[in-house]
Amino acid sequence: MVQATPFLLVLFLALGAHGLPAKKCSLTGRWVNDLGSNMTIESVNANGVFAGSYHTAVTATSNEIKVSPLQGSQQRGPNQKGQPTFGFTVNWSFSDSITVFTGQCFVDDDGKEVLKTMWLLRSRVENIKNDWKATRVGNNVFTRL
Ligand code: BTN
Repeated sequence: MVQATPFLLVLFLALGAHGLPAKKCSLTGRWVNDLGSNMTIESVNANGVFAGSYHTAVTATSNEIKVSPLQGSQQRGPNQKGQPTFGFTVNWSFSDSITVFTGQCFVDDDGKEVLKTMWLLRSRVENIKNDWKATRVGNNVFTRL
């Protein structure tokens, strides 16, 4: 007990008065969302820029689904505390549409990483009169595969 006291004191000082450091959320890796779509994000560079691929489980078209590229950016602001915001665009390789996602990478109460996102899916329409019906909105929750 006598030997343990200085050790515990040093440990407490090393960790700071706030206790254990919070687990950080990393975008890199393979994810699945609530629709069953799969996404792979390659490494995020020092500027927060990343690329990856997206295999959607659903489509608004009658086209055959193909894996599509994504490009995104993670916030690298000065107040980052390990749960970064991000955005990415999926340029669908099998349709004329584009989807933009925006969200935040969270660590939930069980210590699991989860991406909470919202998206806008822009479909191509034939003329400006149909612009009003060209954009869908929704949300997706991604968990790590
Ligand atoms: C298209 O239908 O033109 C392209 C595929 C769109 C798939 C959408 S994007 C938002 C939502 N989340 C998914 O994982 N898939 C759908």
